[in-house]
Amino acid sequence: MIGEYFLESSYIVASVLFILGLKMLSHPDTARKGNLWAALGMTLAIFTTIFFHEGIHNVLWIFGGILLGTVIGWMMAVKVQMTAMPQMVSFFNGMGGGCAALISLREFPNIEASGSMMNGESLIILLGLMIGTVSFSGSMIALGKLNGNIKDIRVPFMQYINTLVLLSLVSLAVYIMMQTTPVNTLLYGLFALALVYGFLFVMPIGGADMPVVISLLNSFTGVAAACGGFLYNNQAMITGGILVGSAGAILTILMCKAMNRSLVNVLLGAFGGGGTAVDKERGSVKEITITDAAILLSYSHKVIIVPGYGLAVAKAQHSCHELEKLLEKKGVEVKYAIHPVAGRMPGHMNVLLAEADVPYPKLAEMEEANPQMATTDVAIVIGANDVVNPAAETDPSSPIYGMQIIKVLDAKNIIVMKRSMGKGYAGIENELFFHDKTRMLFGDAKDSLQSLVNEVRSI
Ligand code: TAP
Repeated sequence: MIGEYFLESSYIVASVLFILGLKMLSHPDTARKGNLWAALGMTLAIFTTIFFHEGIHNVLWIFGGILLGTVIGWMMAVKVQMTAMPQMVSFFNGMGGGCAALISLREFPNIEASGSMMNGESLIILLGLMIGTVSFSGSMIALGKLNGNIKDIRVPFMQYINTLVLLSLVSLAVYIMMQTTPVNTLLYGLFALALVYGFLFVMPIGGADMPVVISLLNSFTGVAAACGGFLYNNQAMITGGILVGSAGAILTILMCKAMNRSLVNVLLGAFGGGGTAVDKERGSVKEITITDAAILLSYSHKVIIVPGYGLAVAKAQHSCHELEKLLEKKGVEVKYAIHPVAGRMPGHMNVLLAEADVPYPKLAEMEEANPQMATTDVAIVIGANDVVNPAAETDPSSPIYGMQIIKVLDAKNIIVMKRSMGKGYAGIENELFFHDKTRMLFGDAKDSLQSLVNEVRSI
């Protein structure tokens, strides 16, 4: 009895820690602490369950699993490059979905049917299996795509095929519930169909649209975990699952807004991207030397830096901050314009710049930065491409048409720092590089920034 009270109380404490942790994650200054608080909540919930929950006997197996998972997770987290974080997030997310699906597979035969499967327990188990499995296979495909190992595969009528598979999935789940006892073979069929749906659902999505699907899969895993919580009447699991599910759903809506996509399109796998480049007649690009760039920047009143994925690849955030501080010392107002999908994961640029101690008030979200462009002397685009591509506004045939961009073309001068004329994630050309106002500074972002810092210092 005392053990049960202790267990329930620990779940409440764990839930509070999850909520506080999540709140802290919303600001870079407190994010690290927030992560630790939430992890503490999870550790508390796990250990009190092991020690105080009646009916847990296989403790050795559980500790074996915890040990193995901790070692593998720790090694992956220590080794991972900052640029490969989205892949790791996808992998961990997929594992969460897979765990939720395994719970359902394990508990299905134990359903107390008493002549009918039409009950809440069956519904929760089947929902957990379908959502968890879709999240698992979808996340694995997303991981392959982010790695560049899996290419987009699109066949005609893809969205009809996906809708058909989704309808079959739901129909099979209803059929399973119409049985009088749990039928394992039907359940395995449902599992296989859900695996296929996760695969089909993510496969055609490509180019610039991956952020939407990643946050959606994240939300699925939360919902699948919450199903497990309802099944075991475990409050910590319910709270944790609902928090992940709702945070993922909110992020999905924000990403949809940023990408200008409707959620229905996402669910039906109807959108694509990374299509063929729209080749147009272009002039040639104009380059700028380090010296000229340093002079232009030093004598400006206002400079806006637009960071992108290339900044992360080059690990150039510290050099970038150094340049910003130097320019500020010379009386130049410097800001950063942050696009919601710049980089490869939500908040990627915020995390990078916080790591380099860039003060948070210097970061302007896209909506705040765009109106300031007209009064900006120089917009420096560092390793960004898709998020500043004007085709999103001007070319209806472009796969990124409709996405909001950082409007660097409104600035008086534009300097683009990248290594070559290489394309961005969406795999399309960028007219910005050929624009009259634009001058290219070719080279690795870190090397170029360091040379710029030295040059600005000498002016
Ligand atoms: P991208 O469009 O991917 O462009 C990055 C650019 O950085 C490339 O054109 C590349 O050109 C340059 N680059 C690479 N390494 C560099 C280095 N060492 N030094 C200098 N430049 C380097 O980046 P973005 O503008 O940040 O856009 C993000 C894209 O990723 C969007 O399409 C978005 O939808 C997608 N995406 C985002 C997320 C999230 S949630 N943020 C998740 C998945 C996908 P060079 O090769 O010529 O140097």
